[in-house]
Amino acid sequence: MHSQTTGHAVSRSRAATVEFDHVTKHYDSVQNRRGAAGAVDDLSFTVPAGKICVLVGPSGCGKTTSLKMVNRLIEPTSGRIRIDSVDISTRERTELRRGIGYVIQQVGLFPHQTIEENVATVPRLLGWQTARRRERAHELLALIGLDPAKYARRYPAQLSGGERQRVGVARALAADPPIMLMDEPFGAVDPIVRERLQNEFLRLQEDLAKTILFVTHDIDEAIKMGDLVAVLEVGGKLAQFGPPEEMLANPASDFVARFVGTDRGLKLLSLFRVGHLPMAEFPTVRVGDDAGTARRRSRTHAFPYELLVDDGRRPIGWIPDKAIPEEGALTADQAVPMSPRLDRRTTLKDALSLLLDANVQAGVVVDRHGALVGVVTVDEIAAWMRQRNASLGETVEGRDGTGASAEGGTEDRRAGPHGVDAHPAPAAADSP
Ligand SMILES: Nc1ncnc2c1ncn2[C@@H]1O[C@H](COP(=O)(O)OP(=O)(O)OP(=O)(O)O)[C@@H](O)[C@H]1O
Ligand SMILES: [Mg+2]
Repeated sequence: MHSQTTGHAVSRSRAATVEFDHVTKHYDSVQNRRGAAGAVDDLSFTVPAGKICVLVGPSGCGKTTSLKMVNRLIEPTSGRIRIDSVDISTRERTELRRGIGYVIQQVGLFPHQTIEENVATVPRLLGWQTARRRERAHELLALIGLDPAKYARRYPAQLSGGERQRVGVARALAADPPIMLMDEPFGAVDPIVRERLQNEFLRLQEDLAKTILFVTHDIDEAIKMGDLVAVLEVGGKLAQFGPPEEMLANPASDFVARFVGTDRGLKLLSLFRVGHLPMAEFPTVRVGDDAGTARRRSRTHAFPYELLVDDGRRPIGWIPDKAIPEEGALTADQAVPMSPRLDRRTTLKDALSLLLDANVQAGVVVDRHGALVGVVTVDEIAAWMRQRNASLGETVEGRDGTGASAEGGTEDRRAGPHGVDAHPAPAAADSP
């Protein structure tokens, strides 16, 4: 997806810190005097340079209003917004906006301008020469995965919804601003296109490293896109601010808990990957090994299967202990079909889902060459998550009955990495 011009195009411009300091907005001054709730109420948080902060909350909770105060399309009723410690109310509006890319809700491309002209909007306002504008527009189109030869001269109506949204992002990037405001940038497309745009954008941001305020009302998008998440309630109150995993592990209020959903445990799992788990060396048997030796060794651990690998340590399958012959050599046809094959990038949520579906509930983790890295089980995933949540300060009582609660026997599961004597104990493999 990245074009050859990527390195040049993005040029790692400096990012900036954005700080909301007790920012309040009342559209209606009469209501304000009566003390009624406004659009934004006493908002304070800081987005460090180069981070994505997602503003999320129900419709009307003040997300768009908050964004528009950053580029001064709207002025706060009280409070300050600072960019790199400078109060933006002291800065000239047009000069301020040059440093801020804005992807508006509903894309808002100019229908009578070509895609190239749309992307070059800000460079044109900045008085760039035609050739330089064109070069920049083409560079950005390539960057977002739209071939300039094909798209530059088209009009917005000749693009799909997803393509239009990408052009909206390209237009906001045109002057290489340190800050981007993105208001539901992937809102108007179906879930599959949306997912693709999200992934592309996250990959792009690895190079761009801009400070981004990203608005959505979709909690899953917030969790996926945000380094930090600000949950807003109607009335424009900040309900919680922090990294997504903190919000999921430890919602600050019932509102946040309801908003993130009762499946927050599963959502949390989607933030981590198999590579996060500690993975101890897993004992294996090889094709051609002596069956008698394998049989004797199988009695030294509780797990009722032996993992059979080939000469390249590539897993072939599981041999049930009971099926190991008395004598002779181990062969590939003694193994039952492989349980889920995972790699370090598999999310824990996907891993869990695959494991629950498998015959042998132990996921075999392989590297790029298909060689064994280790084995993970449902219990290990659960134990690791519990430990993490505990370190994030999860209280024992949990919330809405969905938190860490009465689950006996956590002590021994938590105990140490599994070796030969302490195999993972999936399914019903508890006998010594
Ligand atoms: N120009 C305006 N004049 C008066 N009230 C406004 C104005 N713009 C927004 N509001 C009100 O301020 C509140 C916050 O609006 P805002 O557009 O910031 O919400 P939002 O969180 O972006 O919602 P959505 O998810 O629907 O886009 C709403 O109650 C809205 O009706
Ligand atoms: Mg809005």
